[in-house]
Amino acid sequence: MNVHQPFPMETPEDAAGHFATGPVPSLPYHDPEWWKLEREAIFKRTWLHVAHICEIPEPGCFIRKEIEFADASLVIVHGKDGVVRTFHNVCTHRGTELVQEPSGQRGQFTCMYHRWTFNTDGGLHSAPDFERFHVSKDSCALKQVRTEVLAGMVFINFDPEPRQSVREFFGPIAEEMEKLPVARAKDFTEFVYEIDANWKLNFDNFQENYHLRFIHPNTGASVFCPENPMGYPTHYGFSGPHRSQTLFTNPNPPPTPPVLLEGFMRGMALAKDEPHGFQKTDFKLYPCLHIVGLPPHQYSHTHMPLGPHRTRGTIRMYWPEKADCASRLFSREMSTFSVRDVLCEDRPAVEAGQRGVARIDQVHFQDHEVLLRHLYDTVQQEVADYLAEREAS
Ligand code: FES
Ligand SMILES: [Fe+2]
Repeated sequence: MNVHQPFPMETPEDAAGHFATGPVPSLPYHDPEWWKLEREAIFKRTWLHVAHICEIPEPGCFIRKEIEFADASLVIVHGKDGVVRTFHNVCTHRGTELVQEPSGQRGQFTCMYHRWTFNTDGGLHSAPDFERFHVSKDSCALKQVRTEVLAGMVFINFDPEPRQSVREFFGPIAEEMEKLPVARAKDFTEFVYEIDANWKLNFDNFQENYHLRFIHPNTGASVFCPENPMGYPTHYGFSGPHRSQTLFTNPNPPPTPPVLLEGFMRGMALAKDEPHGFQKTDFKLYPCLHIVGLPPHQYSHTHMPLGPHRTRGTIRMYWPEKADCASRLFSREMSTFSVRDVLCEDRPAVEAGQRGVARIDQVHFQDHEVLLRHLYDTVQQEVADYLAEREAS
């Protein structure tokens, strides 16, 4: 079994020792003005995971993405030159939406209105009667959003001059991400939900096991045992703004129902060749991406903010190949539904948390909620840095 550790993993006691222990103000979890600061300080200038390369496997393939917090419609294109680029989905003539469909494959992109036509690298290829415009074609290229691919995952950054490359941003984790099954995935099963909760509050729900025993007495039973009655992780790690934890596995889990067992066995057979198919490291990547590898699948979970109190969660189970038979399809759907079932248990608690959090001034974190504190502290620091830069400019 591979337990991958991209940076020093510490015992919960040692990890907690690096952080303050007191309560923190609850305001960042609910205040609309604070959210506006986070949007500028973090989300508009940080690398955000928005797609996977297997969605645009060939030159000319594209997908459309709406990023609500930035009021942006984007088209992510696999160029004929092999480069993945992201463009604002806006014709540069007079602003008409360029692409209407969610995905497809094209050699060029033609605006429906006056037929301006763009190449897959965003350059203006042709426009009727262009000589009557007093501009150069070069100045009419589609407006780009910075895009980089790491471990098969497509990241964008709304900052035209990002402070770091994606690889620099993830530091020592970047190399580890490239070894994960997600880096070689050819397909995925997706589950998308929206929840009435701040993005941090929703992410936090997946950063602590303190609630497992109470919210998931049955679905979480595989991690409880007399030696670890709360199912806490065994180690925590920190790397810049990113975190990870090593999950605990009950050595004597309760019996799995036969139909689940059948599905899991099928999935495990598929995962056995993956070097990290059984990895137990759970990455919590800044700002809002969570990648967990549990037998037999690997899934990513993105918590994209839609506003101060609403978040879109996108869960993707990644697979090394396309489903080519009914049993494989069955096992994938079953794995996805098993995760969805757990989420359904979480949702009422998370939404009740959002409704109540504005009514208390402070929240408390125990030692096994240290990942929550790290995210909280990181966000505080990023907003403080942004305000200082704004003040200085
Ligand atoms: S607005 Fe696109 S060609 Fe005129
Ligand atoms: Fe949960």
